[in-house]
Amino acid sequence: MHSMANLAAIVFVVILKVAVLWPFTAAQLRPDYYAGVCPNLEGIVRSSVKQSMVKSPISAPATLRLFFHDCATTGCDASVMIIGSTGDDENPDGYLLKPEGFQTILDAKAAVDSDPQCRYKVSCADIIALATRESVSQSGGPNYTVELGRYDGRKSTDRSVRLPDPSDNLDSLNAFFSTLGLSQTDMIALSGGHTLGAADCDFFKYRTGGNDQSMNPSFDAQLQETCAKQNFAFLDDVTPIGFDNLYYRNLQNGRGLLGSDQVLYTDERSRGTVDFYAANQGTFFSDFVIAMTKLGRVGVKTAADGELRRDCRYPN
Ligand code: HEM
Ligand SMILES: *[C@@H]1O[C@H](CO)[C@@H](O)[C@H](O)[C@H]1NC(C)=O
Repeated sequence: MHSMANLAAIVFVVILKVAVLWPFTAAQLRPDYYAGVCPNLEGIVRSSVKQSMVKSPISAPATLRLFFHDCATTGCDASVMIIGSTGDDENPDGYLLKPEGFQTILDAKAAVDSDPQCRYKVSCADIIALATRESVSQSGGPNYTVELGRYDGRKSTDRSVRLPDPSDNLDSLNAFFSTLGLSQTDMIALSGGHTLGAADCDFFKYRTGGNDQSMNPSFDAQLQETCAKQNFAFLDDVTPIGFDNLYYRNLQNGRGLLGSDQVLYTDERSRGTVDFYAANQGTFFSDFVIAMTKLGRVGVKTAADGELRRDCRYPN
């Protein structure tokens, strides 16, 4: 009895502490965050992204990459959208984030703000998260629930940018993703985002011409031909605008475009997961959703250290 009472007291104190500390600890995201202020938010973003995707096949891949880049650098706070007045921001030319991704977010934000109920009440960070879900699901990928309630950051600097390198090996990739609280499985599932879009030849040309034994020779020849004509190649050249598990099947055939893609198959420590996703699209989809949800929680800002940006391109 005595110990039961002690236990009850401890539980009570813990609950009290959690209740008291709660508003000051990590932001609590939830899917229905805007249910009261902007009930039709998801529908508005859904149809705006649909129009963006009709306008350009680059919209979906560019938006998905924007979300990753934003969350990986100072958290999911839409800082990647900020245009620095001195030219110092997270998107100097070198990172090649495509304008179609920014335009998709700006158009979705304009659509949200054109509803008087919603005007200036939804963060750019949440619009990026929702537009990314639409980009994935409307490309044939999983249609998942998005947690909401992020605030927008006020700062964006070139020197804060942290991204993995396309020539990274498995250990480097794992080290990078572990700083985001993501596991090797999360990393492999998220790399499946490379089922959409393209990469500039500069990022993989060093692997061609027989320089990388893990590259399929006919793929090597194909890439040399492609890069002689244009400056990019598709990350998944079988279905470049379809979200599916062919990315992993390509890896099994030595047809991964970036070094960081192919190494997931070359390295025996990650090959099993690649084989598994190549054979089970459903598991890839559900693991992708788990990892995207975790990625969406990285460095989330609250009212205490963020704001609801009126124009996603500039702090208020
Ligand atoms: C694992 C480490 C990763 C590396 C080294 C990497 C690197 C790259 C590089 C170099 C490009 C080509 C950029 C260009 O030439 O325009 C690219 C494109 C892309 N990345 Fe990643 N990435 C990684 C992870 C991710 C993740 C986690 C996602 C999202 C879940 C993602 C989504 C994309 C998409 C969709 C594109 C195509 C963009 C477009 O066509 O506009 N990447 N990535
Ligand atoms: C995703 O689910 C929502 C809600 O059920 C639905 O309205 C929407 O059309 C779905 N999107 C896709 C691309 O299937």
